[in-house]
Amino acid sequence: MKTKHFSISRREFLRICSATAAAAGLPLWFVEREARAAQTPKPLSPNDRPAIALVGCGGMGRGDAANAARFGDIVALCDVDQKHLDEAAKQFSKDGQSPAKFNDFRKLLERDDVHVIITATPDHWHTLVNLGATKAGKDIYGEKPLTLTIDEGKRLVKAVRKQNTIFQTGSQQRSDPRFRLACELVRNGRLGKLKEITVWLPAGLREGPFKPAPVPAGLDWDFWLGQAPKVDYLPQRCHTMFRYWYDYSGGTMTDWGAHHNDIALWALGVPAPQFVEGKALAQPIPGGYTAISEYDVQFTYPNGVIHRVKSTRADNIFGGVEIPEGQRNGVRFEGDEGWIWVNRGNLRASDKALIDTPLSETAQRLYKSDDHMANFFECVRSRKLPIADVEIGHRSATLCHLGAITLRTGLKLQWDGQQEQFVGENAREANGCLAREMRKPYDYSFA
Ligand SMILES: NC(=O)c1ccc[n+]([C@@H]2O[C@H](COP(=O)([O-])OP(=O)(O)OC[C@H]3O[C@@H](n4cnc5c(N)ncnc54)[C@H](O)[C@@H]3O)[C@@H](O)[C@H]2O)c1
Repeated sequence: MKTKHFSISRREFLRICSATAAAAGLPLWFVEREARAAQTPKPLSPNDRPAIALVGCGGMGRGDAANAARFGDIVALCDVDQKHLDEAAKQFSKDGQSPAKFNDFRKLLERDDVHVIITATPDHWHTLVNLGATKAGKDIYGEKPLTLTIDEGKRLVKAVRKQNTIFQTGSQQRSDPRFRLACELVRNGRLGKLKEITVWLPAGLREGPFKPAPVPAGLDWDFWLGQAPKVDYLPQRCHTMFRYWYDYSGGTMTDWGAHHNDIALWALGVPAPQFVEGKALAQPIPGGYTAISEYDVQFTYPNGVIHRVKSTRADNIFGGVEIPEGQRNGVRFEGDEGWIWVNRGNLRASDKALIDTPLSETAQRLYKSDDHMANFFECVRSRKLPIADVEIGHRSATLCHLGAITLRTGLKLQWDGQQEQFVGENAREANGCLAREMRKPYDYSFA
């Protein structure tokens, strides 16, 4: 194995760090610490290029595959929409040669020469694809939210552990230094006693009713629906927009929630809340998107910390600014000595010193990754747990599912994080929401 070394003068090192700190809005001490750690030589093997297959060739899948192509070769693609498959084949063709194309992921999984699967289907397909991939001995980069239901997550964690699969959840905010620093500061008591976390998520879409349309040529609608109920094709149910239907996803509570709630859990360092309650602030339009678009949900942890999840209309569903003076999506930590606010691109505090004062050498440090995909491929080689291992993805998805369940049932609920079930008042009804009926033949043994 070759190793790569480089050295620069201390002056040049400080100049680069200052420029990086200014551009990124991060404190200099933090950037210096990270840069020093990054200078540790890492073994590189140019021949070590795993073969990668992408299942779900939509917007995110193609983005993930392009990102993964830095570390391996895209040798196979799968989609139930021929148009998306052909577009991806064009994008990932190399020297005039297209990756192999599949419409059924089970056939793709039979290929022994594929090492890594990227799963970027809509949420309702994640688990069946991931269970099949685990069973077939592949390592997996699986998009967030990890699952459609809590029961799916429990099964997936078990299967991944049994097979020693390397599984990275696509919650890439864990590999963003701003979020990591915010969590390290909270964990090390920079805010004194942590009292409240407020997560703001973009509000979902509240539209409808929609009219059925002919199924587009090349789309296998039945296979796209998979375990979900059989319904007429609507463009608004399908590509990209599936997020706003409970049959396929959980609205922005699970879509953006899988990112920002994941950060809240990282800072807290506890696996699960004890209580959840919430209210819908807008009701879906009959015949339209079914997921509740605006909400206010509250989780309470055994240590007394309150974690609120609120929707904001000031950012659009992609996180872009709609109302400049409005409430941005992000995570706010409040303790008895001040607050810290973090989102993609911003890290602020009630007093700058809360961020600018270095943490001590003995402070608790969190798992460090500045490149989510690189971390995954490093772990594929080292067989260590990646930064957003399956269990982390499952815990974060569970929190989001709990939020969606309280909104859908209107019930105040008590959660037992050890047993992963509801207890106390209303437990019976809520436990009925841990799994969903799957349309045959799309059950857990499908792949
Ligand atoms: N990490 C992030 O920041 C991030 C950002 C966007 C999306 N995502 C996640 O990525 C996933 C995909 O989202 P998207 O926006 O790319 O959706 P999309 O609708 O653009 O793409 C999904 C693709 O999966 C295909 N598909 C459906 N069922 C399939 C099956 N059984 N086998 C193979 N292919 C199938 C669809 O035809 C479509 O091409 C979602 O779970 C979403 O939450 C993550």
